[in-house]
Formats: sequence, C-alpha cells, structure tokens
Amino acid sequence: MGTSNEVKKQREYIEKVRKINEDRKCKYNILTMGCQLNENDSEKLSGMLEEMGYARTDNVKDADIALFNTCCVRENAEDKLFGKLGELKRLKEEKGLIIAIGGCMMQEKHITDKIKTSYPFVDILFGTHTLYKFPEDLYRAIEEKRKIEDVIDVEGKIYEGLPIKRDSKIKASVTIMNGCNNFCTYCIVPYVRGRERSRSPKDITDEVKSLAKEGYKEITLLGQNVNSYLRVEKEKNISFSEYEGINSFATLLRAINKIDGIERIRFVSPHPKDFTDDVIEAIADCDKVCKLIHLPLQSGNTKVLKEMNRKYTKEQYLELVDKMKKKIQNLTLSTDIIVGFPGETDEEFEDTLDVVRRVKFEQVYMFIYSRRVGTPGDRMPNQVTEEIKHKRFDRLKELVESGIEENNQKYVGTLQKVLVEGKSKNNPNMLTGRTDSNKVVIFEGDKNLIGKMVSLKIVSEHMWYLKGEING
Ligand code: 5AD
Ligand code: SF4
Repeated sequence: MGTSNEVKKQREYIEKVRKINEDRKCKYNILTMGCQLNENDSEKLSGMLEEMGYARTDNVKDADIALFNTCCVRENAEDKLFGKLGELKRLKEEKGLIIAIGGCMMQEKHITDKIKTSYPFVDILFGTHTLYKFPEDLYRAIEEKRKIEDVIDVEGKIYEGLPIKRDSKIKASVTIMNGCNNFCTYCIVPYVRGRERSRSPKDITDEVKSLAKEGYKEITLLGQNVNSYLRVEKEKNISFSEYEGINSFATLLRAINKIDGIERIRFVSPHPKDFTDDVIEAIADCDKVCKLIHLPLQSGNTKVLKEMNRKYTKEQYLELVDKMKKKIQNLTLSTDIIVGFPGETDEEFEDTLDVVRRVKFEQVYMFIYSRRVGTPGDRMPNQVTEEIKHKRFDRLKELVESGIEENNQKYVGTLQKVLVEGKSKNNPNMLTGRTDSNKVVIFEGDKNLIGKMVSLKIVSEHMWYLKGEING
C-alpha cells in the first residue's frame, strides 16, 4: 500500500475511535523520554489522540490512556519506564487504563520480551516504524480487547499528512530526516531508527510555510544527522523532486531562510564529518540561522574517536572549529561528550578536557558511557569501571561549569535579541526568552511581548540564566 493510502486508512481509524468516544470525555497522558526527535513524535501522537477525542491531562490518574514514548540511548530511561509501569498496574486493575508504549526502546527485543513477561497488562507495544499506525492499533486494542504488538524491523517509510498537536505556539520542530547510517560504536540509534531517509524538500518547506502562517517564529530542523540531508538519496540514485533549488542541507537552509514570518532557524544534530563548506557558507549568509551550532565532539582523543567510528581526528575537529569561527560571525558552539568509552585511558580523557578548554563551548551535554546491547561498544573487552567513569564525569563537569561562569560574564552589559517564550516558571512576574545562543534570559515586561523578538540589555548573570532589561 502506498503511503498516502496508508495515511487515508489511518484517518479512517481516527474517525472510528472518535465515534467510540463521542459521548465520553476521554483523556490521555503522555510521557516522552529522550531527544527532540522523540518530542516531535510525541506531538504527532498527541495530534492523533486529540483528533480521536482525547484531551490531554498531566495527571495519569485522570487518564483513560497512558502513553510512553521511549528512548534507549542510555540505560537510565529503562529504569524510568519499568518504575512507571509498576506504578500503573493498580490503575490498570482499578479503572481499565489503556497502556501503550512506543518509541526506540520497543525496537529492542530484550525489552519487549521483558515487558511481555513481567508487565503483561500493557495493551499496545509499537515501534519507531509503526508510529503512523497508532490509530489502528488503538482501535484494535479497544474494539477487539486484545494485546497489540506492532513492531517491525524493516525500513520505515515517511508518512505525510497525519495530525500534529504542537507543544508551543512560538517554536516548532520539523523533522527533515529519519534514521542514521553512521554506526558510531556506542550508539543504538541506527539499530532502532533504521537507515537514513530524507523527507522531500517540498513537504518540509510546505510545513515551514504553514507554521509561519500560524504565527510560529522559530523552527528547529531535526534529524539524527541533519547535514547529510538528501545525501543517501543522491549516492544511491534514489529519485527525489528538487523544489525551490533544494538538493542538500545547505540549500534547504537557504530556502527556509527566505520564508516570511520565520525569524529563527536552528538545527540538531549535524555530524562534524559532514560539515561541508557549503553548509558553513549558508549559516554565515542566512540572517535567520542562529549562530549557535551544536557540534557533537564525543571524545577529544583521536584513538578513542577511531574506536567510536566517528571518522574525524582531534585535529580535524579543531580545524573545523577554527574554520567555522573565521567564517561565521558571532559563532557559538555547543557539544555532546561521552566519558568512559571502552578502553579510554586517563591520558586519552585529558585530550577531551583539552578540546573543551580550547573551544570554549557555550554548552556541553555530558554523558557517562552506557553499554547498549547489540552495539560494538558493548562487546569491547576493556570496559571502564563505574568509579573511573564517574570521576572523569565530575572532572569534566567542573571544567564545563567554570567555563560557563566565565562565558556568562561576557554577556553582562551587552545587547541581546531575545525571542520571548512566555512567563518565567520560577517567577510569574517575569518573562523568559532565549538569545540566539540559546541562553535563557528573564526580564520584566508586558505579556504582549510573548512571541516577539525584543532587544534586552543584560544586567546580571547566573549559572543557568541571565537577567535582562528592555533596552530603550
Ligand atoms: N552512552 C552514553 N551516551 C551516549 N550517547 C549516545 N549513545 C550513548 C551511549 N551508549 C550520547 C551521544 C549523543 C547523545 C545524543 O547521546 O553523546 O550525541
Ligand atoms: Fe548515533 Fe552516531 Fe548516528 Fe548520532 S551519528 S545517531 S551518535 S550512530
């Protein structure tokens, strides 16, 4: 069946479930783990559920359906899921709560096996390639009163035209590609999200144009490897329709930069090995593309990078940073780092600290290496002990935090353009927004400013936020 017919079929299931719920006030609760791609998938699941007649609740006790969108990049997400499932057993028994689990973790057989034996009360298990079929799975679970397992291992296709309920009215994420072909040796993603496939240029630009019409100001382009957008299609001669001159990530950025109404463009995550000059030039030329670039380092040591299959050396990473700093005015950088990859010695870890000192990242997302079943890293003999991993993590954290403090001082006294996102959670009398470099700024202002870009003078700095005043 073609993807558009499949979507049509799912729309029919949405109608069927809506009819079942017609006279009832049904609610859903959704818990999302992991990255922004998962958050975007949860927005799609929420869109489907709302069209099926469910309203969102943040309290699972009020819910008719509890939905988990899982992540399996690190092991703490597993503990969290199993803990929550234990808590839900009673609600299942008391009021027949429907429990559905989807996302990356469901692509791992040892996890679905564990759920089926230890948590047999779960109603629906669905994977990353079958998310679009959620209305059908839910209908079957309700009508046929049976357990549904809908996980496939084949390459997922891209399904356009299903509903979406976005979390924000100001910032929106747009997935531009799915899957990953890189097989970094620590990473489970290529096994659970499948091979790279890009959305068509027209579908992406149409989505961004309609978001602009709805009043969205900031777009984040998402993918496991955004800067290889359309690369596989070109390499394998898979035909795609060029639209508005878009045939690469750089041309996509340039096209989105022209869409009226959108004021900021961000993207995550690019891979350093694919950071070609045309992408650097597009970032430099496009006024709406934020100059904070997330450039995952993972390790600063060439031998560890080789073991990780990252395909760049310490020197190549630093050269790329130098080139970007020269070509992109006001560039800031953030990164991901893993400590304690198998075989990493103290000396090799020093290289990571060295890169952190040299690059002066705006933000560093730090991770302790977590063994993932099925990845080459898990099979490596020389695993680092937990104690050493934690010691290294603490050293890195200390260095990163002192770097952030130092960096924050540079903001004081400067003028910053801030996109106002809403009231501050900690202080409802203040508004909150973000700079181009993604720093949180809180300030006093009228709530009419929400959704607008304002110029703020930074008056003080705190570890995780800045304070500003409206300028003039
Ligand atoms: N252990 C620890 N961190 C990991 N990441 C990916 N896989 C693992 C793992 N097995 C981190 C990487 C990646 C980020 C999204 O998660 O730094 O960039
Ligand atoms: Fe995982 Fe590497 Fe692919 Fe990123 S590029 S999703 S770290 S395999």
